[in-house]
Amino acid sequence: MTAEIIDITRNHEDALKRACAVLAEGFPVAIPTETVYGLAADATNPAAITRIYETKGRPRFNPLICHVADLSMAERYAVFDPISKKLAETFWPGPLTLILPLKPESGIHSLATAGLDTVGIRLPKGFASELIRAFGKPLAAPSANTSGKVSPTSASHVAEDLGDRLKLIVDGGAAPVGVESTIVRVEDGIIRLLRPGGVAAEEIEKATGLTVIRPEGPAAIIEAPGMLASHYAPGAAVRLNADHVEPGEALIRLGSTPVKGVERAVAVFDLSPSGDLAQAAANLFDYLKRADATGAARIAVTPIPDHGLGEAINDRLARAAAPRE
Ligand code: TXA
Ligand code: MG
Repeated sequence: MTAEIIDITRNHEDALKRACAVLAEGFPVAIPTETVYGLAADATNPAAITRIYETKGRPRFNPLICHVADLSMAERYAVFDPISKKLAETFWPGPLTLILPLKPESGIHSLATAGLDTVGIRLPKGFASELIRAFGKPLAAPSANTSGKVSPTSASHVAEDLGDRLKLIVDGGAAPVGVESTIVRVEDGIIRLLRPGGVAAEEIEKATGLTVIRPEGPAAIIEAPGMLASHYAPGAAVRLNADHVEPGEALIRLGSTPVKGVERAVAVFDLSPSGDLAQAAANLFDYLKRADATGAARIAVTPIPDHGLGEAINDRLARAAAPRE
């Protein structure tokens, strides 16, 4: 199987029609979202969901995010408390996933939620939500990459990784946010951050007037069962908080902070010459892949400020650098 690739800027209607047809046959389709490319399938169809897990090589205890076309669709599947509702109204469509109690008999298959009594729900921007509206059912979609690898932010990233295992890749250009959605869970009036992502925690605090509780170390992160320590791993080793370059290393930097030995780097990638963290997030996965493709034995990364989208960037970098099995 070699994936057909349809570019939505040229064939928008065709892309919608083809994607709906493949989804209706029970197969996954790679689609653009504002965060990363997703591997989407009918969240109510167990065979389709199984194909997501098989295509990615993903452990089945790791639940999937279900994507909806609007808030009323979300309310058919999940129970909203007032704070979650406020978050949805403020940040949807956008890079925020809410973990909510699943409505009984909702129709979302237990393979999508890995048997939990909660569901991760998100309303994405652009083509993805148009597709869900046209299809009429929620789409379960993890990032469209082999499990454990760096998430794709372009159709060509998807094609390189999964092109021979998919029927269709919808090309919507570079994903503008570049890191996955922020995942939060509200319980007893407390907002807990399960995964930093495309909506900065500070924005959530501003919108609600509440403090966002951060996970305490790796044990707490397991709450989102997908948060295995070594995730987002490129082939090369990754060395964080670098202030110099060692022989054989490629360098990923942020702006103009001086780096000793930069002239001996195998290659240099600047996440954002002006130090803008949103731009840095958008470039992160592409530059990790490119640095990896230089064949460098190791990728050195300079320190990234830990506020705003820097929190999501540092989370992904820590996973990329984590010891592998
Ligand atoms: O931006 C994104 O969120 C992208 C795009 C495609 O929407 N999707 C994405 O999905 O990053 P994935 O499968 O790579 O990450 C989903 C995360 C996993 O860590 C999973 O454990 C967590 O969401 N998750 C899903 N349902 C959950 C639930 N009911 N309770 C706790 N965590 C959940
Ligand atoms: Mg992923």
